[in-house]
Amino acid sequence: MRAYQILPGANIDALQCIDYPDRELAPFEVRIRVHAVSLNYRDLMVASGNYLVTVDDPIIPCSDGAGEVLAVGPGVTRVQVGDRVAGSFFPHWIDGMTSADKIRHALGGDIDGMLAEEVVLHEEALAKIPASLSFVEASTMPCAGVTAWNAIFVSSNQVKPGDTVLLLGTGGVSVLGMQIAKAAGLRTIITSSSDDKLQRARDLGAHHTINYQTVPEWHEEVLALTQGRGANVVLEVGGKGTVNRSVSAASMGGTIAIIGGVSGFGGEVNPASLLASAKRMVGIFVGSRGMLEDVMRFAEVTGLKPVIDRVFPFGQAQEAYRYMESGSHFGKVVIDVTK
Ligand SMILES: NC(=O)c1ccc[n+]([C@@H]2O[C@H](COP(=O)([O-])OP(=O)(O)OC[C@H]3O[C@@H](n4cnc5c(N)ncnc54)[C@H](OP(=O)(O)O)[C@@H]3O)[C@@H](O)[C@H]2O)c1
Repeated sequence: MRAYQILPGANIDALQCIDYPDRELAPFEVRIRVHAVSLNYRDLMVASGNYLVTVDDPIIPCSDGAGEVLAVGPGVTRVQVGDRVAGSFFPHWIDGMTSADKIRHALGGDIDGMLAEEVVLHEEALAKIPASLSFVEASTMPCAGVTAWNAIFVSSNQVKPGDTVLLLGTGGVSVLGMQIAKAAGLRTIITSSSDDKLQRARDLGAHHTINYQTVPEWHEEVLALTQGRGANVVLEVGGKGTVNRSVSAASMGGTIAIIGGVSGFGGEVNPASLLASAKRMVGIFVGSRGMLEDVMRFAEVTGLKPVIDRVFPFGQAQEAYRYMESGSHFGKVVIDVTK
């Protein structure tokens, strides 16, 4: 079988497709024919050597893949040959709160990931895909979908329908987060540097949109749009360039879910800005298999279809990475491994 591999830090040019030997399945292992892999900003960070964890040897990159069970090893009971499954970002975080043990390994980070024709995963690291989602759509759920779900429904301060969710930019986490929030009856406010992308967001049902370049004080606009209340949850993906405005844009008792740093990490937040308004900042690190199952069940019930900006064939993985790097996408970039 063919798989891509990359030495973390060696950059996108080093991403190469090679032949991998098959290996026997150990007890509780499952062989999966991968159909689709979605890219995340994190995959660019792995390529550039800027990810949290790194390794000295090449790995198969990418955390997010969906496919079909080809074979099961001894003792497997959770899935059968032919089942449609997605891999869970942290193979050992099954449910409950996080712990060092549960996040000790992450697909496409310190261990092999999903950008391969076939992968072998432990049965506990798999979630079944509902019939409503294609492989391409399901491949967006393990990182982007779970992160947004965790921020809005698990780590926030009891969000309820009618509350407001603020999303920064129109990348994978933010657009999928907007779709999830909208489908759950939440008011959505999304920002972008592009009026065209904001129009696409309105076409998808975003309640309010703000161009963060032409309206640099966008947090004030968020307050104005919510009659001074602010957003109950902010999906903070911006980092040092946005975090203080995100705090200002949050409601009393609201949650600033610290997710990413597309403008770089760092910056200073004055703790007093959280004090009287009882705002909470909470770190989000993707989530568990249980959250993956929850967000996919939610997609099935609501009919949610993740926005796919563009699909590249397997042979054009480098092009897919470069397209993602250009920032011109809206929603998710996917590699179809079968083409
Ligand atoms: N902690 C976690 O568990 C977790 C999980 C997933 C992702 N992340 C992090 O979350 C961030 C987003 O990931 P992603 O995969 O969604 O990335 P992505 O698809 O590449 O999205 C990047 C988007 O960010 C927007 N952006 C850039 N600079 C911005 C700024 N100054 N203010 C507001 N928006 C800005 C741009 O949107 P426009 O083009 O519309 O301006 C850009 O398209 C990354 O830092 C990633 O590492 C963390």
